Amino acid sequence: FEQMPLHVEINGTMRTLAIEPRVTLLDLLREQLHLTGTKKGCDHGQCGACTVHVDGQRVNSCLTLAMTTEGSQVTTIEGLTPGGPDGPLHPMQEAFIKHDGFQCGYCTPGQIMSAVACIREGHADSPEEVREYMSGNICRCGAYANIVDAIMDVKK
Ligand code: FES
Repeated sequence: FEQMPLHVEINGTMRTLAIEPRVTLLDLLREQLHLTGTKKGCDHGQCGACTVHVDGQRVNSCLTLAMTTEGSQVTTIEGLTPGGPDGPLHPMQEAFIKHDGFQCGYCTPGQIMSAVACIREGHADSPEEVREYMSGNICRCGAYANIVDAIMDVKK
């Protein structure tokens, strides 16, 4: 496949990349940019492990062709805080630790990106509303109740 240019801001850094048009945003992040905090669970839009923000909106990066992010701002778990992975944690990350919002941790980056979007988009007025918004993020360890607690804690 022919490579095409892509101009996209990723975690605050403007990038000019050459990619094949068929490449998903998830594969671009993980394979080309080595931002492996974003996880590949199902690769079919069913688990939410690959959740990132594009221009502030959460998306399943496995369902997003990288080319469609031309001119956009992409934020991954690595770029959630200004200090990056080595800086202070985001309040949502702190809350997940405090409330045991994970066991194996595989779904956690996606859960956190969705959780931040949940509050930002105003869908955290009740535990029921949070559960509905977060329903696309699957946790095989079943940490759902604690995840909802963490989000409600950050919201208050
Ligand atoms: Fe994208 Fe599962 S890997 S939703």
